[in-house]
Formats: sequence, structure tokens, C-alpha cells
Amino acid sequence: MKKTIFLISMIVFLTGCNSAEKEKENSLDLAVASGEEVFNKNCVSCHGSEGRGLADDWKVKDENGNFPAPPLNGTAHTWHHSPAQLLYTINNGGVDMGGQMPAFSERLNEEQKQALIDYIYSLWPSDIQTKYNQRFK
Ligand code: HEC
Repeated sequence: MKKTIFLISMIVFLTGCNSAEKEKENSLDLAVASGEEVFNKNCVSCHGSEGRGLADDWKVKDENGNFPAPPLNGTAHTWHHSPAQLLYTINNGGVDMGGQMPAFSERLNEEQKQALIDYIYSLWPSDIQTKYNQRFK
């Protein structure tokens, strides 16, 4: 009898753990998915599909003397910035620093901004994600 109770409680314990883990993964997937939606509505026009950028070379100014929107997929600097810095850029854009990016502080809610950061992170190759985790997480 004792054994059975032990077994049952182990099963409950183990499945409990498992579903908590799953829930965490699912909520991250969900954040990435909704981040993609927010991205495709608000950011894709400048940063390109999956953050690949639109210009051939994001380090070369366009004919108006402005730098193009950099790719966000890990091929430019985005991953050098902490989550707080990324949030700052999303909120304030680049106009204050002589750039072109509009500010999104009033246009998106906090959940959407966080989802965007999760989505951008999901676009990076895994070696860059690892470096980022070591530096900022
Ligand atoms: C009108 C074009 C435009 C839109 C729309 C836009 N951006 Fe940008 N973004 C830029 C430009 C241009 C820069 C480079 C800095 C500057 O000139 O302001 C930039 C810079 C950034 C950076 C810093 C990248 C780095 O490597 O340091 C991040 C992060 C970013 N944008 C995220 C976003 C997100 C997320 C959205 C959507 C909510 C968005 N941008 C919408 C044009 C845009």
C-alpha cells in the first residue's frame, strides 16, 4: 500500500514538473509568435522580413544621407545591446540621436514590446543566443 501511494505521488510530482516546464516553453513560443505579428505590422517595412534588413549594406548611407534600418537578425549589432537597451530603442526610436526610427512608446503596450524582444532574440543563430545569454541573462 505504502509503495502504491509513493508511486502515485511520484507520478503526480513528475507530471506536475513536466507540465510546468512545458507551460514555460509554450508561453515563450506564444511570446515569439505574437512578437512576430507585432513585428510584421510595425517594423517589417523598414527592418525587412524576419529582420533581415532591406538595404544591401546597412553601413552605407542612402541617397538622403541616412543610414538604413539595420538587420535585426544577428548579422548587425542588435545582439550587442541588453534587453533594456533594446526596449529603450523601441520606446524612443532614433530621432533624438539624429536617426530615422520612429518612437513606439505610445504605440505599443509593454507586453507587445517584450514580445518583440523575444521575437528578435528568436531570429539569432544559436551561437549568438548563447553569447547573449552569457552577457545579459
Ligand atoms: C521608419 C523605419 C523604421 C521602423 C518602422 C522601425 N525601425 Fe527600427 N530602426 C530604423 C533605423 C533607421 C534604425 C537605425 C537607427 C536610426 O536611424 O534611428 C533602427 C534601429 C533599430 C534598432 C537598433 C538596432 C541595432 O542594431 O542597434 C532596433 C532594436 C530596432 N530598430 C527595432 C525596431 C522595432 C522592434 C520596430 C518595430 C516596433 C522598428 N525598429 C521599427 C528604422 C525603423
